[in-house]
Amino acid sequence: MESGRGKQMTAQLMLAVGGAVLGSLQFGYNTGVINAPQKVIEEFYNQTWHNRYGDYISPGTLTTLWALSVSIFSVGGMLGSFSVGLFVNRFGRRNSMLASNVLAFLAAALMGFSKMAASFEMLVLGRFVVGVYSGLSTGFVPMYVGEVSPTALRGALGTLHQLGVVIGILIAQVFGMDLIMGSENLWPLLLGFTFVPALVQCILLPFAPESPRFLLINLNEENKAKSVLKKLRGTTDVSSDLQEMKEESRQMMQEKKVTIPELFRSPMYRQPILIAVVLQLSQQLSGINAVFYYSTRIFEKSGVQQPVYATIGAGVVNTAFTVVSLFIVERAGRRTLHLIGLGGMAGCAILMTIALALLDQMAWMSYVSIIAIFGFVAFFEIGPGPIPWFIVAELFSQGPRPAAFAVAGLSNWTSNFIVGMGFQYVEEACGAYVFIIFMVLLILFFIFTYFKVPETKGRTFDEIASGFRQGGALQGDNKTPDEFHGLGADSQV
Ligand SMILES: *[C@@H]1O[C@H](CO)[C@@H](O)[C@H](O)[C@H]1NC(C)=O
Repeated sequence: MESGRGKQMTAQLMLAVGGAVLGSLQFGYNTGVINAPQKVIEEFYNQTWHNRYGDYISPGTLTTLWALSVSIFSVGGMLGSFSVGLFVNRFGRRNSMLASNVLAFLAAALMGFSKMAASFEMLVLGRFVVGVYSGLSTGFVPMYVGEVSPTALRGALGTLHQLGVVIGILIAQVFGMDLIMGSENLWPLLLGFTFVPALVQCILLPFAPESPRFLLINLNEENKAKSVLKKLRGTTDVSSDLQEMKEESRQMMQEKKVTIPELFRSPMYRQPILIAVVLQLSQQLSGINAVFYYSTRIFEKSGVQQPVYATIGAGVVNTAFTVVSLFIVERAGRRTLHLIGLGGMAGCAILMTIALALLDQMAWMSYVSIIAIFGFVAFFEIGPGPIPWFIVAELFSQGPRPAAFAVAGLSNWTSNFIVGMGFQYVEEACGAYVFIIFMVLLILFFIFTYFKVPETKGRTFDEIASGFRQGGALQGDNKTPDEFHGLGADSQV
């Protein structure tokens, strides 16, 4: 590796990135953590209800209470992701991340002591609070990591956010085994565990620097920015970094910021924002979080003997294919990958339906359902996982981009909430055929993508915009080399 040119991995850079990515891990952990212990926590709800009111809880109330515990996380996430801008420009990136840990500690306490206090309200509230923390993290982490990394490493380090999320899910699934913390007595520890990464982050981040871009552009503190850059880069010549930041801020000043209402009113943005919203819906309504929130229950109903192990398997497949997709996503066409992902997921949904329908006749169908779910997750990470965020970034230039990301984030969390809240009801109503609904939605999203979504890779905003004026979305050739590197957004599951 070259030295003295400001491209190497310095101790300061490692500390900054490592400390930040703990926030991504928290988001993943809390997405996956309520999956395995569903049964034991439902028993706690039932017992608490009995002790308080003298009756056992009715199945309908239990379903509602559990769905709420799962999905209120996304309501918090929506609130958090909308509040990112309130903090980062006022308090700085690092201090915002540091301060948000108050929420993680509060949530850990609420969830960890809910059993002791015999209060499911505390658990639900804790899920909401940790959702707010997670929503903030999905904004803070990619921004901070992007701003401390040198240009040459920005793409590679940016992918650590996504990896942090999927590894967080996997850790939660492993810890959720009843041998570890998913048992009747230990589940409060499992949920309260979110305290540990928060503590580690509070120890690490004070030694990490504030974002040099924030120091230079928001605070106008050039000398501070310079000294931070010297430490991050491990070199005394940081003029090219400073130059790049100044150039970027100059460009940002030139292009007027577009507000959210303008995004919908202007004919120039109407079609791109429609595409951005539908792609976010395609990510969440694909049913992926039905798997991450409820896979243990799904596997159990498919006759799998050890559903927790199958859930962990899904987490391993998820992590592996996230790594695979990191290598292909920068090179392949976005539109093609999204189509492959949606089509593959639809195929797996059909397989899942067949497996569930034939389960009574053929017990080995439970293995087919495992394969179907693994394929479902793998295809998700190839297309609908990463691509919607890529395309939003590539459809909008600097001016409308923040507003577009806000709208995309809102669509994403809202549809995440709908799946988390609704899945169990729909499953109770349709039984084995619940995955047919996802299949239909996936096919609709496939058709939409095929006819409406242009290839964005390696094309400039002008070229994409003129494509919209001609009304064609089918030209998928890449004339210019791909120069897009900064993703700058979360790719949550
Ligand atoms: C609640 O617990 C009681 C006693 O263990 C059980 O009979 C009942 O089925 C449970 N209710 C639900 C909805 O799980």
